[in-house]
Amino acid sequence: MRPGRLLTTLALMLATASPVLAQTAIDVRIDAGAKGAKIDRNIFGQFAEHLGTGIYGGVWVGKNSPIPNVRGVRKDVVAALRAIKVPNVRWPGGCFADEYHWRHGIGPVEGRRKTINSNWGGTVEPNTFGTDEFMDFVEQIGSEAYLSVNLGSGTVQEAAEWIEYMTADPATTAGKERAANGRVAPYKVKYLGLGNESWSCGGAMRAEYYTDEMKRYARFVRNYNPAQTGPEAMQRIAVGPNQADPAYTEAVMAAYKAHDWSWSLEGLSLHSYTTGGWPPSYPSTGFDEGAYARLVKETLSMDGLIATHSAIMDKYDPDKKVPLVVDEWGVWLAPLQGTNPGFLAQQNSLRDGIIAALNLNIFARHADRVRMTNIAQMVNVLQAMILTDEDRMVLTPTYHVYKLYLPFQDATFTPVRFEAGVYKEGDIALPRVDAIAARDTQGQLWLAVTNLDPRRAAAIQATVEDAAVSRASGHVITAGRVDAVNTFEAPQTVVPKPFSARAGAKGLTLDIPAKSVVVVKLEP
Ligand code: AHR
Repeated sequence: MRPGRLLTTLALMLATASPVLAQTAIDVRIDAGAKGAKIDRNIFGQFAEHLGTGIYGGVWVGKNSPIPNVRGVRKDVVAALRAIKVPNVRWPGGCFADEYHWRHGIGPVEGRRKTINSNWGGTVEPNTFGTDEFMDFVEQIGSEAYLSVNLGSGTVQEAAEWIEYMTADPATTAGKERAANGRVAPYKVKYLGLGNESWSCGGAMRAEYYTDEMKRYARFVRNYNPAQTGPEAMQRIAVGPNQADPAYTEAVMAAYKAHDWSWSLEGLSLHSYTTGGWPPSYPSTGFDEGAYARLVKETLSMDGLIATHSAIMDKYDPDKKVPLVVDEWGVWLAPLQGTNPGFLAQQNSLRDGIIAALNLNIFARHADRVRMTNIAQMVNVLQAMILTDEDRMVLTPTYHVYKLYLPFQDATFTPVRFEAGVYKEGDIALPRVDAIAARDTQGQLWLAVTNLDPRRAAAIQATVEDAAVSRASGHVITAGRVDAVNTFEAPQTVVPKPFSARAGAKGLTLDIPAKSVVVVKLEP
């Protein structure tokens, strides 16, 4: 072909290509003048169970460890968690909580009872990380404590004495015991879980039986901290549904509606993991696009699940006083080869970061009812923020998504309209993109866009109604493959990179890479 002819052909191709590009741009309209619910910062909560190396090794190395620590708690992990402003930490379980006896974990370390962690690998639980160590850790990272009491194999008295130990005046016997263990002032216990999965590992109780038991804990487990009144009062969270099963939602909420002055509730828990079937067999590394699409499809069912339980809660609590607390969620995959299967150790890929963003978006859309969640789990277990190996630490793609989403903590939900398009993989059809927007606590507008499609970039044409916006910049998280992971040897494979929108005649265009999460500030 002669050069002149080639140029003409190219020009023709471009002329016909541009309308196609224009058609495929996704129009995202942000209604900056409208106000939704507050996205409670507690939806970015964490879960830390005595399980595998989640606590021992991951958080606690002991005061005499060569690994840099403050009173036994690893410095690197504390710094990383401070940077994502963890609002609350749920502890000590999980299934572990319903066999935990707090007295084993206080006082001089030499005298602490060694027990067996019967739920998770049958290892010896040294109880060197107990109540005072946990509270020290929570204070070091600047977070709130969410304690799960042992309703399964403990007693109301044991649970009541635990919170008394933590919160009573130093002049009382319980307060004196705490002071003798190094802490004079009462601790702040902001959240109290009344059991864990009582429909299964927490005692396999019928919903009605659990509800009767729960009421006794809600009544008698008291917080004596004088600073915890009014908005600071301890919030009691009852066990709620296992996935879609409505039994606990109905029984607990009916009891709540009928409650008298003597007890109440400030939360109903929901547990739902993304597993790809049971037992979990999807690998956390080296998976193909089919596995990616199947897990993403499953995770999106969180939306319907919340809608189902919210509708039941609305019957008994139309004013939405009781939050739905999704205090265990995340991707639960096959254990890493060579690890104790009871340790629930898995890698964390770009796919998992995308799944985190999609769930955070779902929680934000349900912010009127979902006011707290806890991803499982914080360090070294399931969909972790952080992985450690002796003195080494690596931040996961999920951690980086939490960092990008910081402006959404306590932000006001701002409605967004868009046609998501379709991403197809085999017989699975998924939305191609997802987006949420919000005004942060300073009134600044933010947009988060996830491109679920691992092959196609998406051009987003962003229009902001009721606000002058001409610039958008922030960060993007992406990688060459959906199964890309950060390792101790290569910790920078999936990390946030600067991102800016293009300004044009039609407004702002965001070129969102395939398989990515983008968060931008929208500015005049
Ligand atoms: O997060 C692991 C386990 O999953 C928790 O201990 C339990 O509550 C749930 O089944």
